[in-house]
Amino acid sequence: MLSSPRHGCKYPACHLRHGAGWPGLGRPPYDAPGSPNEGVLVKVSDAERNIEALLSEERVFEPPEDFRARAIVRDDSIYERADADHEAYWAEQAERLSWFSRWDTVMEWTPPWVKWFAGGTLNASYNCLDRHVEAGGGDKVAFHWEGEPGEERTITYADLLQEVCRFANGLRSIGVQKGDRVAIYLGMIPELPVAMLACARIGAAHSVVFGGFSAESLRDRINDADAKVLITADGGYRRGQVVPLKQNADESLTECPSIEHVVTVRRTGGDHPFTPGRDVWYHELVADQPAVCEPEHMEAEDLLYLLYTSGTTGKPKGIAHTTGGYLTQVAATHRLIFDIHDDDVYWCAADIGWVTGHSYIVYGPLANHTTGIIYEGAPDWPDKDRLWQIAEKYRATILYTAPTAIRAFMRWGTEYPAKHDLSSLRLLGSVGEPINPEAWIWYWKYIGGERCPVVDTWWQTETGAILITPLPGITALKPGSATLPFPGILADVLDEQGHSVGLGGGGYLVLKRPWPSIARTIWGDPDRYVQTYFGKFGTDTYVAGDGAKRDEDAYYWLLGRIDDVMNVAGHRLSTYEIESALVDNQKVAEAAVVSRPDDLVGEAIVAFVTLKSGFEGTEGAATELRDHVATKIGKIARPHGIIFTNDLPKTRSGKIMRRLLRDVARGRPLGDVTTLANAEVVEQIHTMVESGAGSGEE
Ligand code: WT7
Repeated sequence: MLSSPRHGCKYPACHLRHGAGWPGLGRPPYDAPGSPNEGVLVKVSDAERNIEALLSEERVFEPPEDFRARAIVRDDSIYERADADHEAYWAEQAERLSWFSRWDTVMEWTPPWVKWFAGGTLNASYNCLDRHVEAGGGDKVAFHWEGEPGEERTITYADLLQEVCRFANGLRSIGVQKGDRVAIYLGMIPELPVAMLACARIGAAHSVVFGGFSAESLRDRINDADAKVLITADGGYRRGQVVPLKQNADESLTECPSIEHVVTVRRTGGDHPFTPGRDVWYHELVADQPAVCEPEHMEAEDLLYLLYTSGTTGKPKGIAHTTGGYLTQVAATHRLIFDIHDDDVYWCAADIGWVTGHSYIVYGPLANHTTGIIYEGAPDWPDKDRLWQIAEKYRATILYTAPTAIRAFMRWGTEYPAKHDLSSLRLLGSVGEPINPEAWIWYWKYIGGERCPVVDTWWQTETGAILITPLPGITALKPGSATLPFPGILADVLDEQGHSVGLGGGGYLVLKRPWPSIARTIWGDPDRYVQTYFGKFGTDTYVAGDGAKRDEDAYYWLLGRIDDVMNVAGHRLSTYEIESALVDNQKVAEAAVVSRPDDLVGEAIVAFVTLKSGFEGTEGAATELRDHVATKIGKIARPHGIIFTNDLPKTRSGKIMRRLLRDVARGRPLGDVTTLANAEVVEQIHTMVESGAGSGEE
């Protein structure tokens, strides 16, 4: 594959690519002969209002030879096959699942509506459990579970199948039927995947509500989905405290007329008021149930689950995922991107309450008969090395986490991972936000021991599965780039007029044809689905809402949400690039960049910066950071104001909430803070800015 001369960078595995060649992966998909885009490429300068992509990252990391030699994907023929006939290629992926009856058509597309594998029938829980047990794989560990207080449970595939069957029978016994919706409000305990799979087994759609959400959020989601049953626990452990799940649930349920029964898992103990006729303990419900339960034969297009995504504003959207296409794509992407071998111990450290956990803790890994790790609690409990202690204990080979977590690890310092033997790791993954190059390098170096490829995977709740990603055995990695569309995915970057932007330019990230795991609708609001995702460039073009650029190798660089893009002196700048330039400075742990109106330049750049422990936010430091950005990107991107803060406001899934910082920077009253994980932080920043403390203005 690509071999390029060393360029004197201090990292031995890092090669600077010479020449602008496609990295041995065949022709770029955007101009493949006969592709819908052929001939519509425009030069950057022709396109108005593109996002200017200014940051240039020159480090390139080749797949290590020993990794490549053992990888599932060792050459680029998969891209060619998928390009030549994407339906045949997806059908080939679907054939890896067990179907009760085969599909009639692979894809039926009436834009924007699509059906995959119509006429086929299957069951997701059968694919995740029974078929492995029937093939003799029942003794393999499905999950190593570790509770925050320190308990362990080892759950084999045979155990999981029995438990799922018992609970599926239990759910049927309280009236849950095919086509119903079941809400699940649990922490990270084994009963969470059990509950999801039990629903899937009997054809009820689950709607998992993240255990960190409030009673109000739970209520709105239950009512929107018209859920019949709620599954919860008495409590959950988080940082040594008990999260009162049942108490929250009871509060919501005063306004949830659709709920007929509540099933409560005993986790933390203690007394809980039970409503007779409505409430039942999980352990009592499953006690006398047979460990065998016939799975429903589901149509490929039957609803598998709803998952609500709040985004940063507006009423939460019930994203609807169906069975056949979803399972096909999560299994295929999980296997090929994480290069899953039989002996792997795979750890996706996300919460199952987010789509990452649905697709890459539960459905993808179990469909692939993988051994996984589930940890219940906080990464800094009892100390900041908890994750590394768990990775060492179970000899984890693959770790998948988020940039926000990686930046926290960076801030805490390298001594925590250094205390543990992480030599079992062979592959790392990142998801959720653009990963700043310095965070990427830190992860690669201090967690991966300079040995593990880092797969930066771009996708969304709505896409169901990863769409833009390296394949770790063949893709040369560039820190900060999610690299290339997964085989079969047709992506593009468009300007405001809908023209494809040339290499080097930035614009709207779009997908030009459907993929099997695309969300089929927003529950109860198909118009909003069409408007949100297909409203801008026509019903055949899915608009992700993210800005992106493609570099000279056609690698994709995600630039953050389009709504966050700033216009400074006529230049459209991405927040991500300026933030990455700031994080590149050795003093900086995390940064969020927003703008405020300015008479002179249109929008002035304001940076909120969190320093690593040991550094102080002085006037001198502010000047140093401004100069650093000017050197890395250019004078145009030099922040006007720098505000040092102890933390940044984040959503509960860890994304920085720039909208609120924009309000602070503009001196506006604060908007809705209820979706924040750390609402107090905005208040602090607000007070600080009002009083003029902690900021450096130019
Ligand atoms: C948004 C989707 C996908 C599962 C978790 C988040 C951002 C996600 C990346 C990445 C840059 C990323 C995008 C996207 N995002 N992964 N690798 N690089 N940005 O799911 O909550 O639906 O969020 O997360 O902005 O649109 P989600």
